[in-house]
Amino acid sequence: MSDTTSAIYAITLELDGQRHHFQCRDNQTVLSAAEEAEVPVPSSCCAGVCTTCAARIQEGEVHQPDAMGVKEDLRNEGFALLCVSFPRSDLMAVAGQEDALYQAQFGQYQS
Ligand code: FES
Repeated sequence: MSDTTSAIYAITLELDGQRHHFQCRDNQTVLSAAEEAEVPVPSSCCAGVCTTCAARIQEGEVHQPDAMGVKEDLRNEGFALLCVSFPRSDLMAVAGQEDALYQAQFGQYQS
């Protein structure tokens, strides 16, 4: 038997104005837990690159070492890529933030 134990966290995810509640293990991505709960979070690459699954964490903490598509300072502002985000606490987050993340990262370069 494996002696690894994993914590389970309560996730509240808002998507298109609707709140969804589900659980996520600490070794499971929030996206995969959302999919198990049949919450239709948009996703594409599932590798932390495309930002389709971007969300904004409002409460709680995630571990997202592979989130290549989000700059560090924006991660600190709460942006997260759910396909590579592992919960480290109960979470409250808003999904569907791809456009907001794009604006935050690149909006300053547009005229
Ligand atoms: S689905 Fe591409 S970054 Fe998450």
